[in-house]
Amino acid sequence: MELAGLRLIFLFSFATLMPCLSAHIAEVNEVWRRRAEEAMQTTEQYYDPNPVAVANHLNMKVQDLSKQAIAKRGLLNAESGQCAATNPIDKCWRCKENWAEDRQALAGCALGFGSKATGGKGGKIYEVTDPSDNDMENPKVGTLRHAVIQKEPLWIIFAKDMNIKLQQELIVQGSKTIDGRGAKVHIANGAGIMLQFVKNVIIHGIHIHNISPCSGGMIRDSVDHVGKRGQSDGDAVSIFGSSNIWLDHLTLSQAHDGLIDAIQASTAITISNCHLSNHDKAILLGASDTFTEDKKMQVTVAFNRFDKGLVQRMPCVRFGFAHVVNNDYNQWEMYAIGGLQGPTILSQGNRFFASNNQNAKEVTKRMNCSPEEGKSWIWRSEGDVLLNGAYFNSSGDPKKQIQYQMDDVIKPESGTEVERITKFAGALVCKPGQEC
Ligand SMILES: *[C@@H]1O[C@H](CO)[C@@H](O)[C@H](O)[C@H]1NC(C)=O
Repeated sequence: MELAGLRLIFLFSFATLMPCLSAHIAEVNEVWRRRAEEAMQTTEQYYDPNPVAVANHLNMKVQDLSKQAIAKRGLLNAESGQCAATNPIDKCWRCKENWAEDRQALAGCALGFGSKATGGKGGKIYEVTDPSDNDMENPKVGTLRHAVIQKEPLWIIFAKDMNIKLQQELIVQGSKTIDGRGAKVHIANGAGIMLQFVKNVIIHGIHIHNISPCSGGMIRDSVDHVGKRGQSDGDAVSIFGSSNIWLDHLTLSQAHDGLIDAIQASTAITISNCHLSNHDKAILLGASDTFTEDKKMQVTVAFNRFDKGLVQRMPCVRFGFAHVVNNDYNQWEMYAIGGLQGPTILSQGNRFFASNNQNAKEVTKRMNCSPEEGKSWIWRSEGDVLLNGAYFNSSGDPKKQIQYQMDDVIKPESGTEVERITKFAGALVCKPGQEC
């Protein structure tokens, strides 16, 4: 009886996934069917019924660090050479000279909803030596595409500086870290990265820009499966039905669609220390007004720099929960944080500097809802710094807000500290044997 019920749920969830899924996978076969089912189970597993506890944990870390910084004021640089990690994620690894010998230590450094992302921890190091991407069905050994289709956990690094032009979207298997530290790695002028129905992926320290849609065709997505794909959207990083994902220190600009899209009940995601600029659509969390499974989407957006030339979606959220903390927003062209379908937004300690355009002063934008409905969504601003006429339109039933508050909430650093906290956003230049 129970088992039958369970099957029914899977069938149902798969049915809801189908329309969007088939847009990318030209031939939906058993392999993708199984991956989709497993991904839905993973979403259930990693969805946190108490998201505020996760948000508070991150807040406490930020506070601890700020106390330490005050205690050591003036000594920080002297004590640790060049290194001045300015937020608790960076503090975890950046000031260690031996980072290159102990790369996998990074895997324990994430905070927020994506903090459990293990990436390729425990796996072998795979060194990418060849920037080419010429064979979609049988990628050459030593290429990034060959690395990401492997089934075992892998920690992928780069032998030298390289520009990788992806001929088609890069379909990444789970339990992988793409670690750009020690090399200048640009993924540019071609397709972007696709994380579809996978878990445990960390992408760190690379530049991704000028991404365009690609035609699709036969693409190998794992060592034992080649499948026919439809056209890719042209997102820089696309997270599709995936969980436990951490994107850190990425430099992102100019894509055909979004810089980062997380859709189809993706959850347990942290986007941190990224530098985003020069693009219309920055971060989309949830793409469908009817896909209610996105209520389980929980994403932390922390310590990022949303720089000039961005228009909207920093992020834009449907249904889910976004903890947006200590980010620097510089002159968005339409709005910064948007939402549809009653998402929950907790905005803390951000710095919002509006442009001179009188029509782009509002940080927030609620879409496709009546004013009454919009007033019921829980959108909170705490410790945000609003500059040059910027304003945050808060909403939400005060009773419900109490539910989201704990007595021992320790606030994140004030928005006035954000310039320092986000100073090193984007891909870092790291040399082995030296602090990064
Ligand atoms: C704030 O949002 C509510 C709900 O969407 C809307 O009715 C109201 O006009 C907004 N206020 C301002 C000042 O933009």
